[in-house]
Amino acid sequence: MRNLQPVAGQAQPVLELAGVRVSLGGRPVLQGIDLSLRPGELVGVIGPNGAGKTTLLKIILGLLRPDQGKVRIGGHDAQASRSLVGYVPQSYTPDPDLPLTARDLVALGLDGARWGFSLGGRNRRAKVDEALNWVGASSYADQPVGRLSGGELQRLLVAHALISEPRVVLLDEPLANLDLRSQDEVVALVGRVAHERGVTVLLVTHDMNPILGVMDRILYLARGQAALGTVDEVVRQDVLGQLYGHHIDVVRVHGRILVVGGPDVEALTCTTCDA
Ligand SMILES: Nc1ncnc2c1ncn2[C@@H]1O[C@H](COP(=O)(O)OP(=O)(O)OP(=O)(O)O)[C@@H](O)[C@H]1O
Ligand SMILES: [Mg+2]
Repeated sequence: MRNLQPVAGQAQPVLELAGVRVSLGGRPVLQGIDLSLRPGELVGVIGPNGAGKTTLLKIILGLLRPDQGKVRIGGHDAQASRSLVGYVPQSYTPDPDLPLTARDLVALGLDGARWGFSLGGRNRRAKVDEALNWVGASSYADQPVGRLSGGELQRLLVAHALISEPRVVLLDEPLANLDLRSQDEVVALVGRVAHERGVTVLLVTHDMNPILGVMDRILYLARGQAALGTVDEVVRQDVLGQLYGHHIDVVRVHGRILVVGGPDVEALTCTTCDA
């Protein structure tokens, strides 16, 4: 695991993983993961299918325990700090007939993380209105969630994750199945979450290109290992070749980056190759 941009001398890290190793079904999925993220940092998590991206988020959420190593959030053990982490899960598709409005979905974000403390009615409504407004979802606040477009739903899920005022937000493939315009809108929104609100964001995506303009660092996962640094430090032939364990090429064309090499790398970049 390389941490190519040490954070020593800067703000206290909000999220730290040290020597994390995870096995699932008797097979190592992540090994030797070390990372240290600052407040307000937006980190793109990139890697082929099965690289361990969702597993990494589950470890940070405390839903899975590492076999080895430590996860600390805000300086405390992850299990004791779950309320500091907001989460947007991979592929949430509500039933079209689900009797839940956009406002209800966002309000649910107030309930999970408050450990029995419930906000009173007026405060609650004001907080939900503020969150809806902040993500630009006020105009469809009373629509059923099952009838919203993918981009509208993603904004709500971000509001749902943010409303409990977490210090870290984890988004698992929030750009999947969105058209380019909706992708741009969600990327801009997530950039504001990190850079205006100071929330540390981990955003999982197969294609790094849509987030090149907003991500501060990239966490590239392959074969259970990770490289962390700026795009220029990590997305290089030598660093990725070592991570994948075989020769790869990094091609920059029209401001886009293509990673080309082995079978899993081609799968990773097929969307960019067609563009
Ligand atoms: N509960 C489980 N038991 C056994 N193996 C598991 C379990 N959950 C995940 N795995 C395996 O761990 C590996 C990493 O899975 P993970 O879901 O973290 O990958 P990912 O990088 O999120 O992939 P994708 O891009 O497809 O979402 C995969 O090989 C997967 O099959
Ligand atoms: Mg996944």
